[in-house]
Amino acid sequence: RIYAPPGLNPVLLFPGYDGAAEWGGASADPENGVIYVNSNEMPWIMQMEENIPDLEGLSYGESVYQKYCAVCHQKDRSGMAASGFPSLINISDKLSKEELLKQIKLGKGMMTGFPQLTSIEKEGLSSFLMDENDKKEVGSNLAASEEILYKHKGYNKFLTSDGLPAISPPWGTLHAIDLNSGEFIWSVPFGETPELKNQGYPTTGTENYGGAVVTENGLLFIGATKDGYFRVFDKHNGKVLWEYKLPAAAFATPAMYQVNGKQYIAIACGGEKLGTEKGNQIVAFSLD
Ligand code: HEC
Repeated sequence: RIYAPPGLNPVLLFPGYDGAAEWGGASADPENGVIYVNSNEMPWIMQMEENIPDLEGLSYGESVYQKYCAVCHQKDRSGMAASGFPSLINISDKLSKEELLKQIKLGKGMMTGFPQLTSIEKEGLSSFLMDENDKKEVGSNLAASEEILYKHKGYNKFLTSDGLPAISPPWGTLHAIDLNSGEFIWSVPFGETPELKNQGYPTTGTENYGGAVVTENGLLFIGATKDGYFRVFDKHNGKVLWEYKLPAAAFATPAMYQVNGKQYIAIACGGEKLGTEKGNQIVAFSLD
C-alpha cells in the first residue's frame, strides 16, 4: 500500500529510507539522451514505539532538565564543546540563580529561550542546576503523556538471519533510461554476493552507494557495490566488460581527468559502510 502510515506495527518500506537511486547521482549521455542510474532494492522496516522517557529515580528538576535541556547540554550536563553546547556542571559558580532563570526564559546567544516553562518547572530546573536541594518527586504534571507519545524505532533493514535482504534478488540494479521516452533501455543486477555466487546462484546485485561516469565511446565506470569491485559496463547493453577488486569497497562516484593528454579515472575506497572493511586509498587507473 502506498503511503501506509507509520504505527506500532511494522510497515515495510520499499524501496527503503535511502531510496532506490542514491546520493551518488546519475550520469548522462547528452548525445543520445540516455541517463544511467544505479538503484537499491532494499526493504526497510518502518515502525514507531511508545516513548517512555527514563525519568525513574530523578528529582523533579532533573526530569525537567532531561526533557528540555539534555538534548544539547547532555544527560550528565557535561555539554558538547565541539558542537558549541557549554557544560552546565557547576554553573552556580558562574551564574546567580536570577541570571540562570533569566537565561532560561530569554535564551542566550545561539540558545533560544524557554518561555513555555511553568514557574514550577523553572523553579525545579534552576534548583537542580544550582545543586540546591531538589527532592520533589516527578510530578504528575510531567507525565510522559503530555509530551511526545511515540518515537521512531530506528533505521532497520528487513533482513534474513544471514544478513541478506529478505526479498528475492536483485538487491541492487543498474539501469539505462531513454530520457526522451522514459523507457528502460536495459536493467541489470549490479554487484555479486560471493557466498551465493559460489553456490551457483546468478548475480544477485548488492546494496550500492556511489554514482557512475559514462564516456562518449561507450564505457560506464562504477564502483559502489558492497562486493568492493570497480566495474566497466558496456553502456549500450549493460554487459560487464572488466572488473577489478579494490582494496576496500568504493562508496563514491569516480572522477575522470586528463594529465598531459592521458586520461585517468580515480575512485575513493573508504569502505566501512554496509559493514565492509575500512579503507583509506584512492585508486587511479589510466585508460590506455
Ligand atoms: C538546542 C540546544 C540547546 C538546548 C535544548 C538548551 N540549550 Fe542551553 N545553551 C545552548 C547553547 C548553544 C548555549 C551557548 C549559547 C551562547 O553562548 O551562544 C547554551 C547556553 C546555556 C547557558 C549558559 C552557559 C554558560 O556557561 O554561560 C545556560 C545556563 C543554559 N544554556 C541552560 C539551558 C537550560 C536550563 C536548558 C533547558 C531548559 C537549555 N539550556 C537548553 C544550547 C541549548
